[in-house]
Amino acid sequence: MEWEWSYLFFSTIIFLPVLLLIFPKKKAISSSYRLPPGPPGLPIFGNMFELGTLPYKKVAVLKQKYGPVLWLKIGPSINSMVVQTAQAAADLFKNHDISFADRCPVDVNQAHNYYQGSMALGQYGSFWRFQRRICTVEMFVNKKINETVSVRRKCVNDMVKWIEKEANVVKKGSGIEVTRFVFLASFNMLGNLIFSKDLADPDSEEASDFFNAMKGIMEWSGIPNVSDIFPSLKRFDLQSLRKKMTRDMGKAMEFGSAFLKEREEERIKGGEKRDKDFLDVLLEFEGTGKDEPAKLSEHEIKILVMEMFLAGSETTSSSVEWALTELLRHPEAMAKVKEELSKVVGPNKKFEESDIDNLPYMQAILKESLRLHPPLPFLIPRSTIQDTKFMGYDIPKGTQVLVNVWAIGRDPECWDDPMSFKPERFLGSKIDVKGQNYELMPFGAGRRMCVGLPLGHRMMHFALGSLLHEFDWELPDGVSPKSINMDESLGVTARKRHSLKVIPKKA
Ligand code: HEM
Repeated sequence: MEWEWSYLFFSTIIFLPVLLLIFPKKKAISSSYRLPPGPPGLPIFGNMFELGTLPYKKVAVLKQKYGPVLWLKIGPSINSMVVQTAQAAADLFKNHDISFADRCPVDVNQAHNYYQGSMALGQYGSFWRFQRRICTVEMFVNKKINETVSVRRKCVNDMVKWIEKEANVVKKGSGIEVTRFVFLASFNMLGNLIFSKDLADPDSEEASDFFNAMKGIMEWSGIPNVSDIFPSLKRFDLQSLRKKMTRDMGKAMEFGSAFLKEREEERIKGGEKRDKDFLDVLLEFEGTGKDEPAKLSEHEIKILVMEMFLAGSETTSSSVEWALTELLRHPEAMAKVKEELSKVVGPNKKFEESDIDNLPYMQAILKESLRLHPPLPFLIPRSTIQDTKFMGYDIPKGTQVLVNVWAIGRDPECWDDPMSFKPERFLGSKIDVKGQNYELMPFGAGRRMCVGLPLGHRMMHFALGSLLHEFDWELPDGVSPKSINMDESLGVTARKRHSLKVIPKKA
């Protein structure tokens, strides 16, 4: 779903009289504050109608006029600072990370007290640190990820089978929507790591209820909400987003409760022998009890596992879709990566995770694709914990902070020929995506950077490598590398507006 500013426009115009009546007299920012520069905007609405459907693109252009840090007002209550260069981002993450480490509350996430258990959207503090510690030490450390290779192997094997089956039923010359299968495989990888279960199957009705509820949650989270921009209108829930979120989150929570109950019964019975999954880790983990709880509550566990699906499935599938799209647009890069795969993996063997380290060109392809198409172009918005002096400006407490990694990835000051897809630029280069190089930050940087990076990184390389090694990919009739539609749309992630359609031929 898109960033529907037109909807916001009409609904706020209709409700303008109500707004004027109930518009709270918000404390103005003191005139002694030196704010970053930005376009003046309209009274009450601020700059909200200037942002378009792809706001990261619109604001990138403003860098030329206003410089590396931009000030925007979105409606009467959201003050936003946008960081638009690698240098400004380096200053933010190196020198002020803690001051900008909060997240911004949004209305839909009031549903089922999602906030209370959320790590990605939760406030910076001891509970967030506790959750982060569980995730980094118990789940996403390389040793633990290595222990679950077979889970990902099985999910990728399923993905390959689904693609083969689909290819046999579509009309000759038309393509399949490959991303759908990458998304299902990513979802199942998470389902198996968390619950030891497949939760998505293109052919099964039953398993898809949880999947559909999660898809709903993703959709409602990606739509800009009048209630966030005009808090006085919150009570009307004009787009019914809170209502829809409450419904779908409720369904997902019911599944969570059923999985927890099942696990409890399994434990009482002595259970079947299986490897420990994330749910076991979360149930067993004990906090120090000092500034963190002794145990996670059932509600907190359900929210945290939901969040893993939300944070991990669409980001991974969208990254793979963009990389495959760029390869289809650049046949010379496709030929090079296929040659690398056939040398390193060999023709009669499956692509394995252990091959990834030996494939520098494939790694370069993913970096180059993430540079041009970061799934979260503004990262996840942060919020200022306290009044902060940054780049000579006074940034008030509660300011929303957006880091425009999309603009930084295309900045000619950081990259030669930035608009061209050239994976070769990363061969022999030390630039990585792990939060140390501020010109390339698809996973963010600093304290709030992606906690699932080691897993997401592994999943996207494994999925893309397998797609490339198992199949030769051709474009449908009437489509040429140059005519592939590259339009974007912004929901939870920035993805292709028109899903990539492509014909797989068994390699
Ligand atoms: C290609 C895959 C992925 C990409 C591109 C990605 C990207 C990101 C980004 C940009 C952020 C915000 C960072 C910031 O604000 O500085 C983030 C946060 C987060 N990601 Fe990922 N992610 C991916 C995969 C995953 C996976 C697989 C998981 C877990 C299963 C995950 C869990 C999280 C969580 C929990 C946060 C919030 C961290 C916090 O606020 O402390 N991500 N991710």
